[in-house]
Amino acid sequence: MGNYDKEIQRRRTFAIISHPDAGKTTLTEKFLLYGGAINLAGSVKGKATARHAVSDWMEIEKERGISVTSSVLQFEYYGYCVNILDTPGHQDFSEDTYRTLMAADSAVMVIDASKGVEAQTRKLFKVCGMRGIPIFTFINKLDRDALDTFELLDQIENELGIATCPVNWPIGSGKGFKGVYDRHNEKVVMFSDTEKGTKEGKSWEIDMSTKDALVEAIGEEAYNKLSDEIELLDGAAAEFDLKEVQNGKLTPVFFGSALTNFGVEIFLNNFLSMSTNPLPRQSDIGMIDPLENEFSAFVFKIQANMNKAHRDRIAFMRICSGKFDASKEVYHMQGGKSMRLSQPQQIMADDRKILDTAYAGDIIGVFDPGIFSIGDTLTVASNKFNYEGIPTFAPEHFARVRQMDTMKRKQFMKGITQIAQEGAIQVFQEFNTGMEEIIVGVVGVLQFEVLKYRLENEYNVEIRMDNLPYEHIRWIDNKDEIDVAKLTGTSDMKKVKDMKGNPLLLFVNEWSIGMTKDRNKDLVLSEFGKN
Ligand code: G4P
Repeated sequence: MGNYDKEIQRRRTFAIISHPDAGKTTLTEKFLLYGGAINLAGSVKGKATARHAVSDWMEIEKERGISVTSSVLQFEYYGYCVNILDTPGHQDFSEDTYRTLMAADSAVMVIDASKGVEAQTRKLFKVCGMRGIPIFTFINKLDRDALDTFELLDQIENELGIATCPVNWPIGSGKGFKGVYDRHNEKVVMFSDTEKGTKEGKSWEIDMSTKDALVEAIGEEAYNKLSDEIELLDGAAAEFDLKEVQNGKLTPVFFGSALTNFGVEIFLNNFLSMSTNPLPRQSDIGMIDPLENEFSAFVFKIQANMNKAHRDRIAFMRICSGKFDASKEVYHMQGGKSMRLSQPQQIMADDRKILDTAYAGDIIGVFDPGIFSIGDTLTVASNKFNYEGIPTFAPEHFARVRQMDTMKRKQFMKGITQIAQEGAIQVFQEFNTGMEEIIVGVVGVLQFEVLKYRLENEYNVEIRMDNLPYEHIRWIDNKDEIDVAKLTGTSDMKKVKDMKGNPLLLFVNEWSIGMTKDRNKDLVLSEFGKN
């Protein structure tokens, strides 16, 4: 064990996942407020930047040189060092959103109490599920009319397939929201609508056993309903089991209202005590323990500089073991050489800070002259190994892309290939023909705009894009056992191959996938591509 064990043990690195508008930004602001990182909530990420339109986004990218969506927020809270990884949402939802989850040790899932489980949450949850990381649920906006609490829990269990354990329980919602019942302490924590931007107000607590006081505080009807619900809950809900939580099988559920600061502090305190410090990670020599190894990290995201004057890129890496010391050399496995990382920095919402040291659990951005790829491992020369690669996530939008000027084929291919290497797009070709036909797949449509913009500005190539109707892609897990050329699917299925020659199938809808599986019983399809 090194002398920096304490630093590693006090770190908590998590991503927040949600559907747009569920309250991710508001909750993050409140976390930072409690952590003392900002004076007033609201200054973390201006709404203007959070809600930018496509054209603004380009401007912002150009101005700042890096993506406004690449942020890691770090703050201190009662001895913990907390790293929050922002998962880009809204229009900038992309494969990076998924990749960010590869760098987190746990996830906080924010759900709008009036909407329940929504599409984007479902997608992100799938990736968390694949990794088996702990998931903590914050059901937000109880100050607005909410769905029935049991109904909300049912949705999480049935749609996401994870057991739920409510840590507290809401009493009413909207105008009738009275607070939450803390199941462990058997107390009611009364809701007090504090002023925006201030910390949680003086909320008072009433013991569940003091019936008179409670009835007076919340009313007879709410009291009776609460008593019934608690009884039902104690009989029906899963028992709290920390091991199950840490294995991602059970999600502790909290209720609150981020906007009015209610329930945020309770959530944060519980979350920090239930979540783990940086976890060991799989490598080609076995699990790497963060405490027992020297520095190691992997690259999970590469951000190209949108400013033409600076063709550099930023590689984001997650430190997985030991301590990073900017004055020491590290070993880049894929490049096969020792190097000093250039300008290591912590990337905040609208700020960058050059770092001398960082520890397992932290995320650093380094200047990349074009040598890093997503999934690369950095270690020290005396302890070489590779971390497990980052999967390729299924794009959901596809377009056929051609250069307008046929003379510019070379630049076009160079641009497409480089942008694909950075992980912003995925490139496919017709299964049977050569390189002529290029199909681009993206997770979020904004990436199409980025592709067009970058090809024009950086590679001087104008392109034409024709949208294709496919929405699903599947990797063929047993490609060596299957004769893909002979495979018969549905008439609207398309066979393509990626840049490495791996066969993939494109489908217009779920039904076609099912049909193709029915017709080819030995075919094994997967939603993630292994790298
Ligand atoms: P996101 O990052 O998940 O997309 O959501 P964000 O925090 O931006 O919140 C979306 C909207 O929901 C915002 O309102 C925000 O103020 C509101 N909101 C967040 N938490 C709560 C809550 O607990 N209760 C209520 N009632 N509203 C909440 P907006 O009108 O879109 O933006 P703004 O102009 O108020 O900032």
